[in-house]
Amino acid sequence: MSNSYLLNRENFGNPNNMGQLMELSEAEEILRNWVKNEKLVFHMQQVGHLMKSYAGNKGYDAYIQKLWYLSGLLHDADWDQWPDDHCRKIIEELESRNQDPRIIRAIASHGPRYFGVEPVSEMDKMLYAFDELSGFVHAYSLMRPQGYDGMEVKGVKKRLKDKSFAAQVSRDDIADASEKAGLPIEDLIQFVINNQLRM
Ligand SMILES: [Fe+2]
Repeated sequence: MSNSYLLNRENFGNPNNMGQLMELSEAEEILRNWVKNEKLVFHMQQVGHLMKSYAGNKGYDAYIQKLWYLSGLLHDADWDQWPDDHCRKIIEELESRNQDPRIIRAIASHGPRYFGVEPVSEMDKMLYAFDELSGFVHAYSLMRPQGYDGMEVKGVKKRLKDKSFAAQVSRDDIADASEKAGLPIEDLIQFVINNQLRM
């Protein structure tokens, strides 16, 4: 990706919209209208599911779980139709719909190297951490005869070292996200194995 993805912004959404989130049906409608690529829809559902599971594990309330879920479900919503305007388009859409600024900021910081926005909150950091790793573990599950059954952290780590496997997944981003989240990569991988939404 080129520098054209830089958002050149520091503030996202309106603080007055804290506590305001769309219904799940509205989010699903955005995906139906914007994303024709079924694999991309499934990727976002997987990341959304991991985010919700993580927030649930932490004991956060239903609203916060929905906030985390929607950040994952919508984070790449503009990638299919507006690849050159990735992130900017969904951010502006969520702003125009007066969504909670926390979800907009999390989406804006899900690729700090590309968008130029650092993840700050725990939700920001976990979206960044789960994004690439979820896709990577999914790719690994597809090449294993048993899928997720019996999958181990060490198997995932071995594939991470094999640069020819799922070569489009940035190992640098995975390592950087794990460091920013302050969580060992092994713990993140184990969480993804345990909680990933399966086909
Ligand atoms: Fe993604």
